[in-house]
Amino acid sequence: MKSVIFSRFFILLPWVLIVIIMIDIDTKRTFRSPMSARQRTQRTVASNLSTLPIIYAITPTYSRPVQKAELTRLAQAFRQVPRFHWIVVEDASSRSDLVTKFLARSGVSAYTHLHIFTPRRFKRAGMPRATEQRNVALTWLRQHRTKKDTGVVFFADDDNTYSLELFDEMRSTKGVSVWPVGFVGGRAYERPLVSGGKVVGWYTGWRPDRPFATDMAGFAVNLHVILSNPRAQFKRRGSQPGMQESDFLRQITTVSQLEPKAHNCTRVLVWHTRTEKPHLANEPKHRKDTLIIEV
Ligand code: UGA
Ligand code: MN
Repeated sequence: MKSVIFSRFFILLPWVLIVIIMIDIDTKRTFRSPMSARQRTQRTVASNLSTLPIIYAITPTYSRPVQKAELTRLAQAFRQVPRFHWIVVEDASSRSDLVTKFLARSGVSAYTHLHIFTPRRFKRAGMPRATEQRNVALTWLRQHRTKKDTGVVFFADDDNTYSLELFDEMRSTKGVSVWPVGFVGGRAYERPLVSGGKVVGWYTGWRPDRPFATDMAGFAVNLHVILSNPRAQFKRRGSQPGMQESDFLRQITTVSQLEPKAHNCTRVLVWHTRTEKPHLANEPKHRKDTLIIEV
């Protein structure tokens, strides 16, 4: 009896195996999605990674309840970008523990952690933000990089939302490149108008008279342009909010020289999102939780 069961088992075994293999092949066929364009570029990118210019993203940041959440969202995008160097500049009189620990665990392999405190008199409503922080980052680049280095510099505020595709686009910036930005200028998006491959104007709902009607998130600059214009920097023009981008760009380029990216500026790959302040009215002043938990 035993040997009959045994021999049946051996007759059935190859068939069982064939069925298992077929199910396996089938599930693989069902679940393997075709390689996306992005994955394909990433593959080619990986094969000659060391020749890619490094993207230097400059992020000013300041202490507030949502700071770590904002930086987390950024890090989870940035750590997927090859050849990426994050320059985080705290608006503080020293490097905070929160940001120091955060960066060490962020998964972004190359980063520089700087700080400069914005004097209180510059923190009034209507005053441009993060001017000093961006300038400190530019100074760091000028002191630590030379003409031999290849790179692209981008100003990445901590509350915006960045598509990974944006970094593929800006990587080829030769001088200064531009693209649309979502949720800015009082419209769903603001964008450079392109004709014959050149920027010829701006689609914007706010101050179309600006020489460069773009948000900080709407352009990138080749590192060589930063190094060969050593005096170019952000300026505080107290009474002129929203002019920081134009004031900076006019020091290093002209509208006709701008390089349109994102399909001739027809795709939105970055959004000027702004995070709502969390409601903390029920946060106890004295009798706090028994544990101290970082948020
Ligand atoms: C808009 C532009 O998108 C900014 O690039 C520009 O700096 C700003 O206007 C301006 O007023 O000049 P908005 O969303 O209004 O941005 O500004 P925030 O996102 O609040 O601040 C821009 C960056 O500066 C952020 O990365 C933020 O963390 C940082 N910041 C803000 C500081 O470092 N210190 C502050 O006191 C406030
Ligand atoms: Mn913002």
